[in-house]
Amino acid sequence: MTELRSAVLAAWEAAWDRGEVDRLDELMSADFVRESAASGSRTDLAGLKREILEVRAAFPDMTTTVEKLIIDGDDFAIFWSTTGTFTNDLGEVPATGTRVQTRGSNQGVFRDGRIAFERVTWDQSELLADLGVPSLRAAFEPDAQTVVDDLSGDFAREALKGFNRQFITGVTVVTTTDAEGRPRGLAANSYASVSLDPPLVLICVQKTSSTYPALFHSQHLGINILGTDQRDTLATFASRDPDKFAQVTWHAGPKGSPLIDGSSASIEAEIKERFQARTHTVFIARVVHAETAETTPIVYKAGKFFDGGSLTEL
Ligand SMILES: Cc1cc2nc3c(=O)[nH]c(=O)nc-3n(C[C@H](O)[C@H](O)[C@H](O)COP(=O)(O)O)c2cc1C
Repeated sequence: MTELRSAVLAAWEAAWDRGEVDRLDELMSADFVRESAASGSRTDLAGLKREILEVRAAFPDMTTTVEKLIIDGDDFAIFWSTTGTFTNDLGEVPATGTRVQTRGSNQGVFRDGRIAFERVTWDQSELLADLGVPSLRAAFEPDAQTVVDDLSGDFAREALKGFNRQFITGVTVVTTTDAEGRPRGLAANSYASVSLDPPLVLICVQKTSSTYPALFHSQHLGINILGTDQRDTLATFASRDPDKFAQVTWHAGPKGSPLIDGSSASIEAEIKERFQARTHTVFIARVVHAETAETTPIVYKAGKFFDGGSLTEL
């Protein structure tokens, strides 16, 4: 029993803390199966090795502590925690440089002295949640009950486009600074006020946007509501021009986010959540600074821009 204990601990540490994944060959049976308790997805030994190497590449300094290992006949349970710095990208999620602690437990069975099966209360989605990058998986994987009403494919796209064309918004420029301190930004109308107390706002940004990596890394962002005389600024920030800020004057907010001069209103906010919604990330941020002006805002509807000063009150 003590021998088995030592074997588990040694192979575990070698694989997770030093990347010596082939040491798991001594510990797992050839037909080993690992199941995620959260998603029910299953992987084999090769899949586990790949996952360890992927996570280690993203967290090169990771260290794991086995807090408890219980072996009872052929059954076992391991409780562990891992700390590491999110140094390199993990799949499509850009590294944030933040230090994270994640914990989980594995429960499984031995067969002929080797682990044949384990169920794990942890997977990469939980790691991402610990990193403040939870996935809105439920939103795009409808369950059996909602699938009846679910619109899908081209029909959904057209139906939603039609719906969105009836929705009137303002237009903002979302800004941040990149690793070299250069200002970055894009036009966005996905702004919404979430709550006043605490003062939370949200913005959705496409992962293909050239501003996205800088925004994702950043701790703060700026949101500028464009005024009617900023039509050119809107065109600039709706483009992929590499130097959009050469064409505007701006000042830094208290946390350094670029706030565009002449906007109808600007806020600076601290990024609190980065929800993954497949092609987009929903940033939720807490407002730390606000500036408003008398400038009339641009109004956006169905691909066209209007003068927010000539609206007729109902
Ligand atoms: C009115 C308007 C609203 C937009 N809203 C968004 C938005 O909410 N999120 C987003 O990711 N892109 C939005 N875009 C598209 C981006 O501004 C556009 O893709 C831009 O080229 C991105 O620049 P970048 O790749 O340099 O970051 C919007 C564009 C316009 C004209």
